[in-house]
Amino acid sequence: MRTDTGQVFRLEDYRPSDYLIPLTGLTFRLSPDGTSVVSELTVERRSGSTENPPLVLDGDGLVLKRVEIDGTSLDPAAYESTPDRLTIKTPPATQQFRVLIETEIAPSKNQALMGLYRSNNVYCTQCEAEGFRRITYFLDRPDILSVYTVRIEARRDEAPLLLANGNPVERGDLADGWHYAIWHDPFPKPSYLFALVAGDLGRVADSFVTVSGREVELGIYVEHGKERLAAYAMDALKRSMRWDEEVFGREYDLDVFNIVAVSDFNMGAMENKGLNIFNDKYVLADEETATDTDFANIEAIIAHEYFHNWTGNRITCRDWFQLCLKEGLTVFRDHEFSADQRSRSVKRIAEVRTLRAHQFPEDQGPLAHPVRPRRYREINNFYTATVYEKGSEVVRMIRTILGKATFRKGMDLYFERHDGEAATIEDFLKVFEDVSGRDLSQFALWYHQAGTPNVTVAASHDASSQQFTLEIEQSVPPTPSESRKRVMHIPLAFGLVGPDGKDIAYDSVEGATVEDDVLHLHKRRHTVRFSGVKERPAISLNRGFSAPITLSIEQSAQDQYFLARHDSDAFSRWQAFNTLLTETLISAFRQSRGGKPIEFSTDLLELAGTIAADETLEHAFRALALTLPSEADIAREAASNIDPDAILAGREALMAAIAQANADLFTKLYHDLSSDGAFSPDAASAGRRALRNVLLDYLSTLPNGAALAATHFAEATNMTDRAAALTVLAHRHIDTPEAKEALTGFEARYRSDALVMDKWFQIQASAPGAGTVDRVKKLTTHPAFALANPNRVRSLIGTFATLNQTGFHRADGAGYEFFVETVLSVEKRNPQVAARLATALRSWRSLEPRRQAKAREALVTISRAENLSADLRDIVERTLA
Ligand code: ARG
Ligand code: ZN
Repeated sequence: MRTDTGQVFRLEDYRPSDYLIPLTGLTFRLSPDGTSVVSELTVERRSGSTENPPLVLDGDGLVLKRVEIDGTSLDPAAYESTPDRLTIKTPPATQQFRVLIETEIAPSKNQALMGLYRSNNVYCTQCEAEGFRRITYFLDRPDILSVYTVRIEARRDEAPLLLANGNPVERGDLADGWHYAIWHDPFPKPSYLFALVAGDLGRVADSFVTVSGREVELGIYVEHGKERLAAYAMDALKRSMRWDEEVFGREYDLDVFNIVAVSDFNMGAMENKGLNIFNDKYVLADEETATDTDFANIEAIIAHEYFHNWTGNRITCRDWFQLCLKEGLTVFRDHEFSADQRSRSVKRIAEVRTLRAHQFPEDQGPLAHPVRPRRYREINNFYTATVYEKGSEVVRMIRTILGKATFRKGMDLYFERHDGEAATIEDFLKVFEDVSGRDLSQFALWYHQAGTPNVTVAASHDASSQQFTLEIEQSVPPTPSESRKRVMHIPLAFGLVGPDGKDIAYDSVEGATVEDDVLHLHKRRHTVRFSGVKERPAISLNRGFSAPITLSIEQSAQDQYFLARHDSDAFSRWQAFNTLLTETLISAFRQSRGGKPIEFSTDLLELAGTIAADETLEHAFRALALTLPSEADIAREAASNIDPDAILAGREALMAAIAQANADLFTKLYHDLSSDGAFSPDAASAGRRALRNVLLDYLSTLPNGAALAATHFAEATNMTDRAAALTVLAHRHIDTPEAKEALTGFEARYRSDALVMDKWFQIQASAPGAGTVDRVKKLTTHPAFALANPNRVRSLIGTFATLNQTGFHRADGAGYEFFVETVLSVEKRNPQVAARLATALRSWRSLEPRRQAKAREALVTISRAENLSADLRDIVERTLA
């Protein structure tokens, strides 16, 4: 574990390195406890430089065996080495020289899962962001691009499969049962994209012919016996490759493309050049073991990593402050891919829900940072929803502002101008300025300024002058170390909705720029006047969620109901209903807190029925509309003095009221939606299942709810339905025999399938109520649980802390106590995963005073632990600040 030096890295301190490494040769002799790594670097002085300053290479916990320069071993006085640094004091004065370094590492002891480690007896690597320095001393920074040739040696029985980046060159036998393989990657790349895999795995093979007719060999490697479970991932890969050619004009560039699924992985997946390494959760799927959500995630993540080949690998980042250059852009690309493969409007609603659930609380709390941060202590803590999801929203806004055709021209110019480079956000924005002739300097604030902008709107109509007026004001709340904010460019897609539900035309508009039904805010305040508007329209604003803001419109309930029934923009229609639900749930929460009986408007209950039965709407849309805002959504919108028990009570009351008001309708629909034959993971079939499972959730609040869920569970022919029924039983009927039986049955059936057991952990960890803390504690001793495996930890502990508002925030602090203990034991093995877990406490200041004090205490306890890693200290200190 790297010790915390407290060092802060700043964007303004960026300076090109004195040396370059055009060529890198690596030889690995693999052994679990003592792997030798010989690195042969061709080092070059930066052109024009006449000095020869010391060559300072990064390391992290390394054991140095030897150093040679130009073939002769180096006098110990000529260099200085620590586990974290190798300094060659006076390098040769020649333009180029060769450095040979041998290090020894122990993959089997590597529990941080960064660098070279073992997962299920498979050697694998994770180098982003700074894992390469745990393998050998190097200029481990993304602007050092090098051509790699890699030789791997291993015992053939231990590792018949030897993979690295690029194309295979040669393989053969060695003495004593060893063998070797050589790989060469012709594309210069930064060290974070280096990868190696060695082990005994099953292979799924396929091929792809690129648009120019080149044949690419595709391989997905999984545990023996699981080959069948990679079929969907392979299909998603081929669709991704075709889509990137068609939509972005990007062709694949190597002879092979390999994906390896491993079971111990810190994140989702990694885009190493030609050798993507995946968390197996995002590769393996069939209907028996994976839910529709899993299928959709696999499709999206396979696409995401593949798309990085151009946005990330061919064009990489100059430094880690530019992380959003590859991540925000690549998320945007994978969102577009999924939208094209599935339903665009449903996908957009799902994206916005995710953004609000993960990025908004980050932006509104102590961990807020700009999409392009200016400083960090630990870069691993900046793989955030802000960099990824808000980063994607910013790219989407560029497209909204420029229009699709000009946006594509800008992307083409980006690829042409920066291919082979390590680029910056300024480079990215410049291509769009160049192709459009627009000045994007105000827009650039989206990258530089943290915080979610709020836009308030008041509308008025004057029949005599036929004028419709919007008074609009924007503000950006202060965020850590940025108290004063500048005015942003906010593009708001809109429509003026007439009485028949169609958008009405107007004669002219003044007070703001309007282009293609997008209103552009550039100033703090705008008075926007539409003329020639005879009747008072309902205003539909921020259609398609064109800008990632919070919006407060003074709008009558009547207008909201009208838009929820008639808005022609599907997103805004969903939004209108969701706003009604959210407002209802916030007042239900306050009523419940005040001990008052909770009452609901019959209009709302009826509208839920209307939406459920509206055959003109997609099933998936109806499912999303009927999914009530989560307890965390309600807490976020209510903003302060949060009492999760009262939120849950209000939400359960609304569930039951909607179910009672629509009991016959929901029952009929539920039965009509029963599965009709063979399983297909496609979006339409998934939508039917989603709607039926949402209806089950409602119906389970009625008498005999547990019996209905038990039947649903017993009759399920796929994991989506089975998990949905188990969730209903465990969350709403935990003390019934039906729930106990289903939980035991599920466990017995899947006890040897770790990924399915993760669902079993998740479902129990998210069960609301005071009893869950003890249940989760007990589950940490279950044979299927392992503190060393990130997926297990996230499923049980992560789910408990992020999705279980009433359990985690238990009033007596028992949830926090358990959490602190667990985070600290995870941290000893894996600081990165522990730091991620700890972000669960970031919204502690919005809790009611008693819980707030307990949460603070928990954070302080963590901060006082001995030998805290940089990862965890960084999160905890920022959260407390
Ligand atoms: N580049 C990867 C992705 O977005 C994420 C890797 C992050 N790894 C880390 N250790 N921070 O696909
Ligand atoms: Zn990525």
